[in-house]
Amino acid sequence: MTTATALLETLADVGVDRLRGGYSRHGFDRADAELREWFTAEATARGLDVSTDRNGNLWAWWGTPGPNAVVTGSHLDSVPGGGAFDGPLGVVAALSALDALRAEGFRPTRPLAVVVFAEEEGGRFGVPCLGSRLLAGTLDADRARNLKDADGTTLAEAVRAAGLDPRWLGPEPELVSRIGCFVELHVEQGRGLADLDAPVGVASSILAHGRWRLTFHGEGNHAGATPLADRRDPMVPAASLVLAARRVAGSVPGARATVGRLVPTPGGTNVIPSTVDVWLDARAPGDADTRHLVDDVVAAAREAAEAEGCTVTVREESYGDTVIFDGGLRDELTSLLGGAPALPTGAGHDAGVLAGRVPTAMLFVRNPTGVSHAPAEHAEPDDCEAGVAALARVLTHLAGAPC
Ligand code: GLV
Ligand code: MN
Ligand code: MN
Repeated sequence: MTTATALLETLADVGVDRLRGGYSRHGFDRADAELREWFTAEATARGLDVSTDRNGNLWAWWGTPGPNAVVTGSHLDSVPGGGAFDGPLGVVAALSALDALRAEGFRPTRPLAVVVFAEEEGGRFGVPCLGSRLLAGTLDADRARNLKDADGTTLAEAVRAAGLDPRWLGPEPELVSRIGCFVELHVEQGRGLADLDAPVGVASSILAHGRWRLTFHGEGNHAGATPLADRRDPMVPAASLVLAARRVAGSVPGARATVGRLVPTPGGTNVIPSTVDVWLDARAPGDADTRHLVDDVVAAAREAAEAEGCTVTVREESYGDTVIFDGGLRDELTSLLGGAPALPTGAGHDAGVLAGRVPTAMLFVRNPTGVSHAPAEHAEPDDCEAGVAALARVLTHLAGAPC
């Protein structure tokens, strides 16, 4: 039987980012097409029935699709220059867990499915959990069709190129109604399990989080010929925004704020930009704190823009409130797994979207570096196998009982 680590290894060459390091695999791009082919081949080789839903999510069914199915899986896309485990570990663990069930001669009394959600990171079209949000109906389909990547390609154009009809994008209540419960295994994205010396844990909650795009408008001009007093340089308030994000987040317990992407236009070393786009990622333990944090950062950005003779426009690109995972299911899994620790996370997941629709749980696998969304993200092979064993145990339990 192929181990999860060996399965992951078969993806080692897909979407390698030679410029940034790590992997760049984004929804409906070339690497994504290869990953879809890979998943279809692996699932088909296991005798699973593979289909693509209207939103580009892949489903591999063991047994007749639904109702009351036990679904597991994750995503295969990455952030730009991401690690090898965030997403793919949950997919290979799902396939390996099914292998283990089969090897034991397990016969599920409920349908089982492995799902691969499309564009979970939002690395190409900006909105995270794109496939699961569309499926669940928490993202407007018209808005989604018009999302653009950095080259101006719309999601509608990208899905059409991938062989899907963009008119199909949108909620799939019938498919959602087939899901009895969803369990996503994921590499941990912090040091919680490493500090507890535990290989596997169960998720308790996800921070409220969202993305805001601020565009500072100034006046493009010459870097050498324009006296400082004559400038309306949008990079100056953009820089203030970065510092305000750190300062304000530091005053809200448990909050985080990040600027990981900043694009000046036109982007020349000797050119004062005419506009600067800045993406703010803000997270906090509750909705009110997250909203206040963003309001305060935006107020600081407006003040800085005005002082430089610039203007700023603000657009919310995505938002998800705090997720508290189903307490009954969480407790059932922690006791099934011999008292595995329950941990909160600051990272977003498709499981967070599904949690609004069906009983949902997550298993975490220890990450000794605590690093994620970067090439240093890691999980030891033994811990990956412990994750597979835990997932197999959970699936055996759930596929024989209602959840
Ligand atoms: C995805 O992993 C996120 O938390 O943004
Ligand atoms: Mn991620
Ligand atoms: Mn992930």
